[in-house]
Amino acid sequence: MSGRSLRIMVTGAGGQVGSEVAAHVPHHDVIALDHGSCDLADRESVELAVVSAAPAAVVNCAAWTDVDGCEADPERAVLVNALGVRHLAVACARVGAHLVHVSTDYVFSGEKDGPYDEWDEPDPRSVYGRSKLGGEREVARHAGSWAIARTSWVFGRRGRNFVDTILDRARKGLPLRVVDDQRGCPTYAPDLAGALARLAVERRPGIYHVTNQGACTWHDLAVAAVELAGLDPSVVGTATTAELERPAPRPANSVLSGAAWTAAGLTPLRPWREALTERLAAQAAEAPAGAEV
Ligand SMILES: NC(=O)c1ccc[n+]([C@@H]2O[C@H](COP(=O)([O-])OP(=O)(O)OC[C@H]3O[C@@H](n4cnc5c(N)ncnc54)[C@H](OP(=O)(O)O)[C@@H]3O)[C@@H](O)[C@H]2O)c1
Repeated sequence: MSGRSLRIMVTGAGGQVGSEVAAHVPHHDVIALDHGSCDLADRESVELAVVSAAPAAVVNCAAWTDVDGCEADPERAVLVNALGVRHLAVACARVGAHLVHVSTDYVFSGEKDGPYDEWDEPDPRSVYGRSKLGGEREVARHAGSWAIARTSWVFGRRGRNFVDTILDRARKGLPLRVVDDQRGCPTYAPDLAGALARLAVERRPGIYHVTNQGACTWHDLAVAAVELAGLDPSVVGTATTAELERPAPRPANSVLSGAAWTAAGLTPLRPWREALTERLAAQAAEAPAGAEV
């Protein structure tokens, strides 16, 4: 990465992905803003934060990510995920900051037979997906210099995430039924954060799909996590999406291909299973001796 020290602002810095970005830009001046210090929905607060700090780049990891919550409150979804992103894009353009914005597989319908690449046409089916597509369009319209990184199935080291939920239930012996009719690419938050940092420091333009390599079902991911944690994978039962009756529709096919990322000469992220193995080993090492993790 560039040798010159840059000022890099991270929004949504309290989240799974946002909390990991600073570690990937150790020689740069990082301003990390969580929800309390910068609310995307508040135009003046966003403008003040960006214009007063005049960063070289902004990595936007802030979003309302509650997919079912968005279905129940579309106005809030749009306010944060689309209009809030407009405020950020406009402010970035004012100071010449390169905006790296995180988006999602939910911008696609999930009906394609095969992986989605960066040139596929979005066609979201959920309120969350529509609000995130709105955010992408605000970035492209208003930020002078920008990159959009679409990712999927993020599991981080902290915060609410699928892997911890599964392991918690497996350890407590609670029933576990996980859908086996949705496919996607699991993505480890620290790996994604490294890619976002690179897009920011190098001022890379355009849309990129950024996930760990490999696709699987949610059931496959749950089984892998349980196995790697040394538990019995036969406790993980299957379910169909229809059986779970969630408020928001989920894409059946969320598999993203990072064709533009690879074509740009950027190194693909490692396979998801490798990242998951590292994540669970680190968690086990952090646990006090004798504690179950
Ligand atoms: N998680 C996934 O599986 C997944 C998949 C595809 C794409 N993505 C995208 O990846 C990005 C990061 O997601 P994540 O997994 O890190 O989610 P996360 O853990 O929910 O983090 C999002 C952060 O945004 C903050 N936020 C919410 N509303 C805000 C607002 N109005 N102003 C400022 N901050 C606000 C949240 O703060 P509070 O919690 O305090 O409200 C939270 O800290 C998002 O753009 C998301 O759409 C995530």
